[in-house]
Amino acid sequence: MTDVYKVDAAFAARAGIDKAEYQRQYQASVDDPDAFWGEVANRIDWYRKPTQIRDVSYALEDFRIRWYGDGELNASVNCLDRHLATRADKTALVWEADDPATPAKHVSYRELHQRVCKLANALRALGVQKGDRVTIYLPMIVEAAVAMLACARIGAIHSVVFGGFSPTSIADRVSDCASKLIITADEGVRGGRKVPLKANVDAALKLPGTTTVETVLVVRHTGGAVDMQMPRDRWYDAVVDAQPETCEPERMNAEDPLFILYTSGSTGKPKGVLHTTGGYLVYASYTHEVVFDLKDSDIYWCTADVGWVTGHTYIVYGPLANGATAVMFEGVPNYPDVSRFWDVVDKHKVTIFYTAPTAIRALMREGDAPVKKASRASLRLLGTVGEPINPEAWRWYHDVVGDSRLPIVDTWWQTETGGALISPLPGATDLKPGSATLPLPGVQPALVDANGTRLEGAVDGNLVLLDSWPGQMRTVYGDHQRFIDTYFKTYPGTYFTGDGCRRDADGYYWITGRVDDVINVSGHRIGTAEVESALVSHPKVAEAAVVGFPHDIKGQGIYAYVTLIAGEQESDELLKELVQHVRKEIGPIASPDFLQWAPGLPKTRSGKIMRRILRKIAENAPDQLGDTSTLADPSVVDSLVKHRRIG
Ligand code: WTA
Repeated sequence: MTDVYKVDAAFAARAGIDKAEYQRQYQASVDDPDAFWGEVANRIDWYRKPTQIRDVSYALEDFRIRWYGDGELNASVNCLDRHLATRADKTALVWEADDPATPAKHVSYRELHQRVCKLANALRALGVQKGDRVTIYLPMIVEAAVAMLACARIGAIHSVVFGGFSPTSIADRVSDCASKLIITADEGVRGGRKVPLKANVDAALKLPGTTTVETVLVVRHTGGAVDMQMPRDRWYDAVVDAQPETCEPERMNAEDPLFILYTSGSTGKPKGVLHTTGGYLVYASYTHEVVFDLKDSDIYWCTADVGWVTGHTYIVYGPLANGATAVMFEGVPNYPDVSRFWDVVDKHKVTIFYTAPTAIRALMREGDAPVKKASRASLRLLGTVGEPINPEAWRWYHDVVGDSRLPIVDTWWQTETGGALISPLPGATDLKPGSATLPLPGVQPALVDANGTRLEGAVDGNLVLLDSWPGQMRTVYGDHQRFIDTYFKTYPGTYFTGDGCRRDADGYYWITGRVDDVINVSGHRIGTAEVESALVSHPKVAEAAVVGFPHDIKGQGIYAYVTLIAGEQESDELLKELVQHVRKEIGPIASPDFLQWAPGLPKTRSGKIMRRILRKIAENAPDQLGDTSTLADPSVVDSLVKHRRIG
């Protein structure tokens, strides 16, 4: 039996939404979505208020997703200008450096507005126009938020690339969207270690397909030495400092693109998930308020990086649209020691703390003492995102970090969904450890079997959504057909999430993980196909197959089977070289945790690799291989089983 943590009565009494209000809103949202989402849109300032609320069809022959189609707005105005009358001196961002000895910075809404306007003017002066793409490759510094909002102000489409990605990954993303300008820094710092961001950009721009980049703006952050290649490379300060402190915002249609964010899928290269302005901003701001029960006095901290969607929606757009104070943290949970998160909570009197299960599991392993050293008295709400949280980690988070007094919101969503879709509301939802609980208002999840048949009641299935919500992605940048094929063809008439899910007798949803060839490593999505193509790009590799396996801290680890070209020798040196090669091709997050030599891979007679078998071997469950009789050569399995990773 799973235990249930009832809503705390005192919390519910102060919360914006209690159980009855959730039920009322949910019902209203399903009964009349136009009325519901029309009303929610009033939280945003529009130049022209939308009269068309939704225009959606998932039918393949008549496909369209449009929200607030005749509305006009500017996202940066909503995140900045509209707060100046009432909260200009309120802190918008608290910046906490990697090194705790570096003084924190408090950036008010007034200052943030000025900085955004200056950069926006600079971008215009450099020839960036509405609709142009700008790549942002920055560490977790205030300029990252400034850069995103400056793009939004002039209608440029930003594409943030996570600072841990390699030059090849940068080049792929720059070339896919034909980026005109890159904003980067000399170096980043994480856990005391420098990350050569500018050097990575230099290397990326030597790769094919990147000649669209005219300008590289370089923020001086660590002061480390960099090569400046004039006239392409410009110091950020030199270009921005002299600009005027106000900047006329671009009037954007609700369906004009706001940003592209690349994410891994089950096939091919990462795809450019495109979000538009009106629906995304309404959804980011609405969900940020209701999921976190936001109050004006909150100090809200999401530990994600702006390189991921969580950083976009729940560090930048959601909190700033809501006039909140958000903490931006440059560092990592275990530097200088494993009390860092809780020290930062105490230092900035954080009230809402939102992190990933992988961080919770890693800190849980260090015991309770590093948590208990800090008071954490300011906290009133905890959250998680990015991967399923195992009930044991949930309970530790609840009992130790939360002193058994704080609700936890386990928020399920995706880069594609723009914001949380299934999540408790802390004043309304009884909690079950490991369950993301119930859909938010306006969200209609359903479970289907492999044939697409709707499953009712308590059951396991594939998670789909029956209807749209404003924050839904609109297309894969430059490849609308891929968008339709990936999400709307598998189970016609629905959006397919790629996740497996169980629903219990109370209607609670339990995400069980990806059912496609995407691995979730420490909450980061990695396509098996990407890692395979990195491996086979090595001259000694003939073939590779990559699967996920259960990993205590990361949730899933990367397990790679590699077949060498005939005549090449297997060796420990080559093994290390291949792991390095993947790091170089994609980035450290894609490093295989385990690499096994495979003289042959299990294939069907038609040549298809049987991943099911490889997964079972990687899980160290060789007794569950199932039927191997359809294999072209069943003996390869015996050899793989014999040399599998154990323990
Ligand atoms: C997984 C991150 C269980 C899921 C916001 C999804 C989760 C993928 C949860 C999207 C959660 C995210 N419980 N699984 N609370 N949140 N996931 O695009 O498999 O980086 O499909 O977006 O992460 O990852 P993405």
